[in-house]
Amino acid sequence: MSDVKNRINAILTSEAAKQTAAIINKFAGQCDTIVEFGSRGAVSGTILIDALTGRKRRLIGVDLVSDETTDSLAKMAESVGVSYQFWRGHTSQYPLHEMDGLLWDTFHAGGALFMDLDRMAPYIQKYIMVLGVMSFGELSEASAKKFDMAAVSRELGVDETGAALGMKAGIAKFLAKNTDWVQVHEFAELAILGRKVPATSRVFGKTKA
Ligand SMILES: C[S@@+](CC[C@H](N)C(=O)[O-])C[C@H]1O[C@@H](n2cnc3c(N)ncnc32)[C@H](O)[C@@H]1O
Repeated sequence: MSDVKNRINAILTSEAAKQTAAIINKFAGQCDTIVEFGSRGAVSGTILIDALTGRKRRLIGVDLVSDETTDSLAKMAESVGVSYQFWRGHTSQYPLHEMDGLLWDTFHAGGALFMDLDRMAPYIQKYIMVLGVMSFGELSEASAKKFDMAAVSRELGVDETGAALGMKAGIAKFLAKNTDWVQVHEFAELAILGRKVPATSRVFGKTKA
């Protein structure tokens, strides 16, 4: 069994976690290039590498911090022939480029989610996978954990209302503005958004007649 499969078996112990991984696998498996916002910890990254294995597909991990878990993603990806790159920095500064999928799992606040998705969505061809929609669905992570909202708002680059907003309200705000997107699946901590109409070469040029 590959290192990736062994790692998945070791970290996904509950039935809900296994089912969540299977759903991510189903949608991510339809993608060639995926960007992961919030990579440290490497749980979702490992699931993505498993889904992307073969056909020289590509994963880019994004996080404010790199550590041994982000390093482990690079090693795992290499072992199964997935191209992997780590980009260290704030998601709001991540360079725009086309991708098939985005997995979002940073500091769970509806305002931060909305800001990132609203900026990235025109470049995403297929799916947006959002984690944390159950634990922080109604109250953001900062609200639930009673963090200093002014400090969190500065760190996230959103106003205090956005820092306090729950993930479900963040998704609703995104879908209300980006009417070409719809929620296609929800299970436990995971919500999947998809395009109503599949996109082809939407941003960088039209397909030739
Ligand atoms: C919940 S953890 C990610 C867990 C990981 N997806 C997993 O499954 O193991 C959240 C991560 O998001 C990162 N993060 C939070 N806000 C961020 C931002 N604005 N830009 C980039 N990374 C951010 C944190 O440094 C942290 O490592």
